Amino acid sequence: MRTSASLDSGESETGRGSGLVVAVDGPSGAGKSSASRGAAAALGLRYLDTGAMYRALTWWLLSRGVDTGDPDAVAPLAAEPVIEIGTDPRAPSVRVNGTDVTSAIRSQDVTEAVSAVARVPQVRAHLIARQRDIIASVPGIVAEGRDIGTVVAPEAPVKVFLTADGAARAGRRAAETSRPMARTRADQERRDRLDAPQSAKAADAVQIDSTRLGLDEVVDIIVGLALPYRSRKDR
Ligand code: DC
Repeated sequence: MRTSASLDSGESETGRGSGLVVAVDGPSGAGKSSASRGAAAALGLRYLDTGAMYRALTWWLLSRGVDTGDPDAVAPLAAEPVIEIGTDPRAPSVRVNGTDVTSAIRSQDVTEAVSAVARVPQVRAHLIARQRDIIASVPGIVAEGRDIGTVVAPEAPVKVFLTADGAARAGRRAAETSRPMARTRADQERRDRLDAPQSAKAADAVQIDSTRLGLDEVVDIIVGLALPYRSRKDR
């Protein structure tokens, strides 16, 4: 898979590898995407949703009729599709072989299949390498996922581990998807179990429990952690 980050007009591609990296990890439904996008916009940084890359590959595998539960079927295809991911925090976008899949990768089919795909070692090796390339190609970025602070960018000076209790996480997902709460919670618990080996809190990450916090409060905390690291070239 050739994976590239697209920059909006006016954004410099200089500063390779020298910009601020803010790592935001945590389980699904903790509010990572909204908080990461909000913090990136407030800080004037780019934004990378690494989960969207696993979802894009999964969407493509499903569209080809590949059995996503079979690691031997998935592994040789890990690098096959061209995935392009936009890094504008105000307008995230994902394309697979030129097709805009920004909405399609949020479908229930993809959500149910993606954890198994993300566990395949060849998939992880390939996408992690692409994620590092993207991070190194922009002047500064908020990257969200499960393993940013531990594996993808362990050198990131700002690391956040965003959590919320299970009921709050399921409640947010149920509201987003209009699916019944009990089913959403059961699905979430299954995904948490499958994602657990890939999900770790870095020892130096600041844990934020968003159960009783509003989005603005979480964004403010992340911005407050990142501001001291902002150099002039990031602004
Ligand atoms: O955050 P999300 O629900 O969009 O993530 C989709 C899947 O990808 C989920 O199963 C966890 C996995 N993932 C991962 O293994 N590593 C990442 N850095 C990001 C997501």
